Amino acid sequence: MSDWKLIYTDLKKEQEGLRESLCALGNGYFATRGAAEESEADGVHYPGTYLAGGYNRLKSELAGKTIENEDLVNWPNWLPLSFRLENDKNWFRLETKQVLSYRQELDLSEGLFRREMHVRDEKNRETRILSTRMVSMDNPHLAAIRWEFEPVNWSGTVMIRSAIDGSVKNEGVKRYQALNSQHLKIIEQGETDDVIYLLVQSNQSRIYMAQAARCQVFFKNKSVATKRESLQEEGKISERLSFHVSQGKTVKIEKIVVLSTSKDRATSDPLDNALEVLCDEPDFSTLQARHSRAWKRLWKQFGISLKSRGNSQFLLRLHIFHILQTSSVHTIGRDVGIPARGWHGEAYRGHIFWDELFIFPLLNYRLPDLTRSLLLYRYYRLRAAKKLAAKEGFAGVMFPWQSGSSGREESQVMHLNPRSGKWVPDNTYLQRHVNLAIAYNIWQYYEVTGDMNFMKYYGVEMLLEIARFFAGITTWSESKQRYEIRKVVGPDEFHTAYPESNEPGIDNNAYTNVVTSWLFSHALKAFDIIDTSRQETLKQKLQVDDREFRKWEEISKKLFVPFMEEGIIAQFEGYEQLREFDWEGYRKRYPDIKRLDRILDAEGDSVNDYKAAKQADVLMLFYLFSSEELVDLFQNMEYEFNPEWIPENIKYYVSRTSDGSTLSRVVRSWVEARSDRECAWSCFREAVVSDFEDIQGGTTPEGIHLGSMAGTVDIIQRCFTGLEVRDNILWINPCFPNEISSFSMQINYRGTWLFLDFSGTQCRIELKDETDSPIKIKFRDQFFEISGKTTKVVS
Ligand code: BGC
Repeated sequence: MSDWKLIYTDLKKEQEGLRESLCALGNGYFATRGAAEESEADGVHYPGTYLAGGYNRLKSELAGKTIENEDLVNWPNWLPLSFRLENDKNWFRLETKQVLSYRQELDLSEGLFRREMHVRDEKNRETRILSTRMVSMDNPHLAAIRWEFEPVNWSGTVMIRSAIDGSVKNEGVKRYQALNSQHLKIIEQGETDDVIYLLVQSNQSRIYMAQAARCQVFFKNKSVATKRESLQEEGKISERLSFHVSQGKTVKIEKIVVLSTSKDRATSDPLDNALEVLCDEPDFSTLQARHSRAWKRLWKQFGISLKSRGNSQFLLRLHIFHILQTSSVHTIGRDVGIPARGWHGEAYRGHIFWDELFIFPLLNYRLPDLTRSLLLYRYYRLRAAKKLAAKEGFAGVMFPWQSGSSGREESQVMHLNPRSGKWVPDNTYLQRHVNLAIAYNIWQYYEVTGDMNFMKYYGVEMLLEIARFFAGITTWSESKQRYEIRKVVGPDEFHTAYPESNEPGIDNNAYTNVVTSWLFSHALKAFDIIDTSRQETLKQKLQVDDREFRKWEEISKKLFVPFMEEGIIAQFEGYEQLREFDWEGYRKRYPDIKRLDRILDAEGDSVNDYKAAKQADVLMLFYLFSSEELVDLFQNMEYEFNPEWIPENIKYYVSRTSDGSTLSRVVRSWVEARSDRECAWSCFREAVVSDFEDIQGGTTPEGIHLGSMAGTVDIIQRCFTGLEVRDNILWINPCFPNEISSFSMQINYRGTWLFLDFSGTQCRIELKDETDSPIKIKFRDQFFEISGKTTKVVS
């Protein structure tokens, strides 16, 4: 592994799925897993191609019930490329040959996936193949493969087979295997002069996707004459090219592919479009040069330089790479959100959760237009969110826990416990806090960008509607003389009900209640910053008035927050009555207790009964808010809160958390950063290898974890640097673990690029552009303003 390359030099069946996820290529429009071109779905390999926002719904019969799921569709596989030599029956598959050497590498700087194979067949013929693949960051509809094919010790005729395979299904997640998986209908397949094509349609959402591919052979940059034939099978179109090769003479085989869909802009018919675009596209190396330049531009904005112990620099680059492959400049303006698991696999069905909370901070400071576009994905689903709120009897909007195409609730109602093989009800959809995350993201986006236009036309409306919903779900408790929020689920998904209760949900989740108080004050603050004419329009449009605002203010001050002894915030009301969990005993009995819920369920017990959390819940408060902000928040709610209680709270909950979500370690590292730097670093290291080492034992092959990928970069970006925007001031207050010796990055603050270089106790701040007005900065205790192209060194 180098700082820019993920390299494997062996073949490991059991790691293939993981490598396919980690080596997936994408461009924010579509992504394709890093499966071998010559492979097909067979239990080891799983080629998958996913379109951003390419969903389809299917009904399945399960335990006597009909359930419906919306899935991220596995679209036709454009990868197939293989060969066979004269008189051979079988097509090349690595597994069937003697492998003399193998190397695969993902090149992050250029966005290329390479496989280098040297193989020998049963007739002692040796062949070397260097495969280079890209999914263009320049033209999002384009992908290409080049094989450099060298007959090492033989000459003769070789036949190449290239195909587009639409007979694929959604079979990437074992747990979903009992569900229907046939999402595609074949509409048309065929060939023109030198192009094969396939048109499919998703059978419920009716999205058309056309793929067209051209395969050509070159020797020394000159086209090689080939004998060509095509073959039609059900849902699969192939072509075969035969030609002569001579020992030691490397030929290049280039497969260029265009994908076009009915969801594209500036398109009439996707198939016509695909064929037309393909016609215009030149050779692989020209396309590669454009692709590399596009990546170069992105790395200029997203590049970081970290000098530290271990391979963190590389891993953070890998994370940034996958974030940009999921969501990039090509996502802007498309009606898609950012999925928790990337467009890299089928886990969680490509759904959009609250994980944006962990992802947007990275985008806000580098590609704010992208955050804006992703926030608009929510805005365009206000109608659906309003319907969801109304269904529960509330005004305002309730965004779903899991969101897909239309914005309706896409959470599954049952989930399979792979340990017990039982389907159990899934009540995690009660996580209303996803709405708070959306509100928080809007405000953060505004703080960093100052984008008043967004606030005026979209942001404030969403904030008001969310606030209105939360006002609706609060109820007044006479006995407590406080407002409550009952029957919800907090970020910790283990607690979905009280012990022995048949009713789902818990009451007064501290995180939800505190952030709700924040929501009310910030919805009102946001309303105040927009001009009066827009205020009037919104008042009229939403039928909201000052009386309602005053009510929100009142609720904000009187929300109930449960406390246990000595300043320990209770995760929810009644938490103290739960039983302590035997962590030591279970760790001895089970090699991995991250998914304690499944272990206990399989034992006939329930995790609801214990003080045991899957992930950070109360700790999320210390993740989102500084101690000063928390003091203010609690003061507003008329509670005493002493920042000295924070370390005790952290200790209490860390020892009762199984870290069953990769997000949990990100939060742990963050909250420990100011009090225990050693611990912060070790949590950061655990978080940073989550996907690379697939520490959850099998989840990464089903899709990467974008929240923790972005979250780990953000730990360095904002947490260790103390970077924050508050009250129109850019705050920088670094506190790095000893293991980090220097760090630098570029950030965009309100339209201006700043270069920040941290080394020892010093920070060099370089203003890259002229600014209209000076930038206010507070570095530790020093306040200053900078403008013009300046450099300032502070310590
Ligand atoms: C976590 C959630 C998260 C989801 C998607 C779950 O395992 O508990 O917090 O939103 O994964 O990443």
